[in-house]
Amino acid sequence: MKLEIINSQIEAGQKGLQVFKKAIQQGAQVFGLATGSTPISIYDAITQSDLDFTKFISINLDEYKGLSNDHPESYHYFMNKYFFSKKPFAHSYMPNGLANDLKSETKHYDQIINDNPIDLQILGIGRNGHIGFNEPGTSFKSQTHIVNLTDNTIQANSRFFDSIDQVPKQAVSMGIASIMKSKEILIAAYGKEKAQAVKEFIEGPVTEDVPASILQKHPKVTVILDQDAAALLSKK
Ligand code: PGA
Repeated sequence: MKLEIINSQIEAGQKGLQVFKKAIQQGAQVFGLATGSTPISIYDAITQSDLDFTKFISINLDEYKGLSNDHPESYHYFMNKYFFSKKPFAHSYMPNGLANDLKSETKHYDQIINDNPIDLQILGIGRNGHIGFNEPGTSFKSQTHIVNLTDNTIQANSRFFDSIDQVPKQAVSMGIASIMKSKEILIAAYGKEKAQAVKEFIEGPVTEDVPASILQKHPKVTVILDQDAAALLSKK
């Protein structure tokens, strides 16, 4: 793992942009993208750069069940807002959380990933070490799957909705095995509330209790951290 400790999210954006640029120079054409607050500074740097994605493909990690693409909390909406409206791809794949048969949608999504192997996958990490919607305990062998959101997550997400009843109870997420197939991974974390998860994922045992810890076994990972997120690491 290559560790980059930065002093601001602007700097993180520039580091992330460099990783994308280098990957493109080396022939990358398929990009695995993520939502959440973490990737925003990287997406800002990319969308303000001269990079051109119009011949490339993007594949997103996950999507809620049942939210329309124009719902402000849907990941479709997020990606359009922060990336695709500014830098379009030849094709952008996202799980269809509106599919009548979500199980078939997971199979379909795995086929998409198999047909378009991901060259560079960007990830955030949850406070509990999750990647995508793969919460602690998810099998390292998992492919795209339907996730039942935990009560804690539903409660936490309810601040974005008018009432808790409107919070999606399920999501479709790329699995951990799907993520590990990417040729290269860029993961970032900022803030002291991520410090424990960062320590466990980089220095702890590889365990399904900390989904991100599997990245220790990946041959090409760049980790971008701010000082707070790196605070508990013994080696920097
Ligand atoms: P965040 O979420 O980027 O909004 O902190 C990351 C995650 O939970 O995967």
